[in-house]
Amino acid sequence: MQAAIHTQYGAPETLTVGEAPIPSVGADQVVVRVFASPVTQGDRHVRAADFPGIGWLPGRLMMGLLRPKNRVPGGNFAGRVVEVGADVTRFAVGDDVFGACDSGAQAEFVAVKAEGAIAKMPAGVRYDEIADAPYGAGTAVTFLEKLAELGAGERVLILGASGGVGRAAVQIAKARGAEVTGVASAAKADLVRALGADHVLDYRAVDPTTGDRRYDVVFDTAGRIGFRQVRRVLARRGRFLTTRLSASILFWMLLTKLFGARRALFGLALPDAALVERVRALFEAGALRPVIDQRFPLTRIAQAHVRVESGAARGSVVITLAEPEPLRVAA
Ligand SMILES: NC(=O)c1ccc[n+]([C@@H]2O[C@H](COP(=O)([O-])OP(=O)(O)OC[C@H]3O[C@@H](n4cnc5c(N)ncnc54)[C@H](OP(=O)(O)O)[C@@H]3O)[C@@H](O)[C@H]2O)c1
Repeated sequence: MQAAIHTQYGAPETLTVGEAPIPSVGADQVVVRVFASPVTQGDRHVRAADFPGIGWLPGRLMMGLLRPKNRVPGGNFAGRVVEVGADVTRFAVGDDVFGACDSGAQAEFVAVKAEGAIAKMPAGVRYDEIADAPYGAGTAVTFLEKLAELGAGERVLILGASGGVGRAAVQIAKARGAEVTGVASAAKADLVRALGADHVLDYRAVDPTTGDRRYDVVFDTAGRIGFRQVRRVLARRGRFLTTRLSASILFWMLLTKLFGARRALFGLALPDAALVERVRALFEAGALRPVIDQRFPLTRIAQAHVRVESGAARGSVVITLAEPEPLRVAA
């Protein structure tokens, strides 16, 4: 099969496209014919071995110390089940599915555990529209629903509201009845507003951690601020959430767990079946709508990474395979 190939860490051009064996199905696995796989910031971190802060060592240990452990990249996919293992009951050949995996999704076929982070596609959604949902929406669910337990009427500040995680976070926070302030560049303010944000701030013009407004939840998807800075705009019992692992956040997590009403929380979104099912339910309830920036064929995977790295994307950057015939799923 055709696959993206990743044999050394580095710039986008280190990714090539070549032949790889079609994965064989294990007894507890399904093989999915991949029709769409996004290039996320997570994929960019793995490609470049750019694991920020104290994530450097765990990142290298997990992904490969000197070179990538997994030859075929790609952590998210949408496609159709073409083979099921002997013990699998959750899926059948022909099911349209989406999900997350450690690697291997940027290829024509991927094998994943049937009880893992995979679910049937919601009706009326295209493969390219749902492919990055385990990443973006899955992370937003983990932080806003599980960690913060965001409630109706609460005020939430979302930094990085125009990004892969932030776009989903804005929509999920609105669906939970929160009042949402999104922080993004001025060029993407319209996008954040269209996703439902009540207020939008330009991070180049305003420091959202100053001023009189207080927030019940501050979700820093962009990993730009620390707890010390954000404390002054956190309401009593306010929660600060960050996607970025640092020594500072670990310190504040411990301290705020022991003392004080305000909490600092780092989280790690680890997709499993329940999380992907939750994302599916949000799509089916109409709480999430996809935003696609650009589609690339697999042969242009390096250019897709350049697009992600540019910071200019106004939505998901998606690798599409086997275009265009199977792109629309019957409602
Ligand atoms: N901990 C976890 O489990 C987990 C899970 C998923 C992702 N992550 C991490 O979360 C981070 C964000 O991921 P993503 O996919 O959302 O990235 P992304 O799509 O690149 O979005 C980055 C966002 O940050 C904004 N931004 C840039 N500079 C900023 C600044 N100075 N102040 C405030 N906002 C700023 C961007 O705004 P403009 O584009 O408008 O300039 C954009 O909205 C990545 O580092 C990723 O690895 C962690």
